[in-house]
Amino acid sequence: KLLEKKLMQMRKLESLGSLARVLAGEFTNILTTIMGFSSLLKISAQCDPVINEYIDSIQTSARIASRLVSQLMAFSRSLTILREPVDFRFIVSEIIEQIRHMHPRVHIMTDLPSFIPPIIGDRSQLKLVIKNLCDNAIEAMDRAGELRIKLNRVTINSNSSYIGDGKEIVKGDFLKCTISDNGRGMDSMVLERIFEPFFTTKHGVKGAGLGLSIVYGITKEHGGFLDISSTPGKGTEVELYLPIMERESSDLQRKSEKRLDVDHEK
Ligand SMILES: Nc1ncnc2c1ncn2[C@@H]1O[C@H](COP(=O)(O)OP(=O)(O)O)[C@@H](O)[C@H]1O
Ligand SMILES: [Mg+2]
Repeated sequence: KLLEKKLMQMRKLESLGSLARVLAGEFTNILTTIMGFSSLLKISAQCDPVINEYIDSIQTSARIASRLVSQLMAFSRSLTILREPVDFRFIVSEIIEQIRHMHPRVHIMTDLPSFIPPIIGDRSQLKLVIKNLCDNAIEAMDRAGELRIKLNRVTINSNSSYIGDGKEIVKGDFLKCTISDNGRGMDSMVLERIFEPFFTTKHGVKGAGLGLSIVYGITKEHGGFLDISSTPGKGTEVELYLPIMERESSDLQRKSEKRLDVDHEK
């Protein structure tokens, strides 16, 4: 029964994904037209301030819409992934650098090990996962507060029989990435719905409600899972688990080294 429910959910996500892809493509064309002609209009209107203001409004809305479209694209892409060895520490440091640059009032504390085995997966998608999680944390703190990012390796064995979000028992070696904030947190009503596509508590142009749907899709595709806990008024902690497959990753490593050797010989 549980499996049936999960299958249903996957199918629903898949059809949402292809719908998103089609819509995003159509909207890209429409938006290109709107942006193009409104720029032309601006030139024809010369410097009439009232008309210019109207055109600016049109262009602002078009820009917001195209941001939404790129999120839709990312959501549909989250349902197919590349497989390459990825050093997760590198992804985390890239994101941290971006945050330091964009949000000087966010204090970032990190706990990164000197070595962690590579994850097999899609670098740019995994980066998007971390970015979306950090964006949510930063938004929950109104762009000022403490953001903690921790990486470590955990072994989940049958004794500890960790219950993942699908309520199945998971086993093996995982990379665990913990992202916590001291923001506004959420109550159980919100917590229950956060992975739903288009679910958001943010008003206006800020949230499309796709951030965590994307995170969920990409994590599932990588064989991982998430555990989120939150206290209203205190903060939120997100634990992201991704499987470490050392054998497979050294195989891939060897293959790419071989390829390099061949290239050298040429
Ligand atoms: N770190 C967090 N702290 C508090 N609330 C959060 C956090 N992360 C997610 N949420 C809640 O989950 C909702 C859905 O998140 P998301 O899918 O990223 O969409 P969006 O950010 O566009 O609203 C948010 O609107 C917010 O209410
Ligand atoms: Mg978000």
